[in-house]
Amino acid sequence: MSRERLLIAAPMPRDLVAKLEKSFDVVWVPDPVSAAVEVKEQLTQSDIAVITVKTELSRKMIEAGSLRLVANVAVGVDNIDVAAATERGIVVANTPGVLDSAVADLAMMLILVAGRSLLASDDWLRSGKWVRASAPLGVDIAGKRLGLLGMGRIGRKLADRALAHEMDVSYFRPSGPLDADVAFDFMDRDDLIRESDFVSLHFPLTPETARSFGRREFDLMKESAYLVNTARGALVDERALVDALRRRAIAGAALDVMTEEPISGDHPLCAFPNVVLTPHIGSSTVETRRSMMELAVNNVMAFKFHGAPVAQVNLEAEVPRRRAP
Ligand code: GLV
Repeated sequence: MSRERLLIAAPMPRDLVAKLEKSFDVVWVPDPVSAAVEVKEQLTQSDIAVITVKTELSRKMIEAGSLRLVANVAVGVDNIDVAAATERGIVVANTPGVLDSAVADLAMMLILVAGRSLLASDDWLRSGKWVRASAPLGVDIAGKRLGLLGMGRIGRKLADRALAHEMDVSYFRPSGPLDADVAFDFMDRDDLIRESDFVSLHFPLTPETARSFGRREFDLMKESAYLVNTARGALVDERALVDALRRRAIAGAALDVMTEEPISGDHPLCAFPNVVLTPHIGSSTVETRRSMMELAVNNVMAFKFHGAPVAQVNLEAEVPRRRAP
């Protein structure tokens, strides 16, 4: 019996690739961006695929192939048409939990960097202005209100970090308040946007949430407030954001994610000195990336040997019958 064909379109450590090679016929594309055409081709010929957010899996591609499992090396799965996968009984798996601290660290860092005008200070020094005058002031972080839109695992970790920085923390989530023992206030969505000094986004990108933070929300924000986004760029109406920055309707933004990625240096957001930008590095640490890859491999192995991955996104997808090894 021929072995199942497994595509790895990810920069996976060699020892993990070797582990998969023991059970599958593996095609490994370590750099799925520069080899996008090859990845597309392989996706339609594979039984199982390990991909990252850099590979889009559309309905058309899903329907052109015969995949049984897609293991995304990410917690977000908006690069995959999950509805189309579910319709065809394709199991979609992700990597929740292992990246929460790294992403929360980055979000806290963005709050500090934006609030304390760190980039402007760095620029001030390097451009020789320090010898003539002191750099412009930042704002206190302690005593400011952090408003979390979405309160999942990453939101909770960020809330803990913000408390350590003596911030007041509020949150909104569509399903209502968390259990009573939490140290954060549940607020109505609009009140939270209106009253926060930093509004941080922590909800998934779906057709319903796409561009759900737009002109209306920017006009609710305080003129002294910052938008922080470590979730997905397309949650925000980017034109409305640029417009709000131009109108000085908000004090600035700190963004790890943009609508289209990657962006080049001439993107309108790059022109604002009060916008801190990082290239989607929320989970970019050696340890976290390793943990994500390990969880993706565990998803594949659990699917093969136990019929279901460890972290399944679309539980409603019919689990296909296990094939003989
Ligand atoms: C990264 O963006 C992720 O969703 O894990």
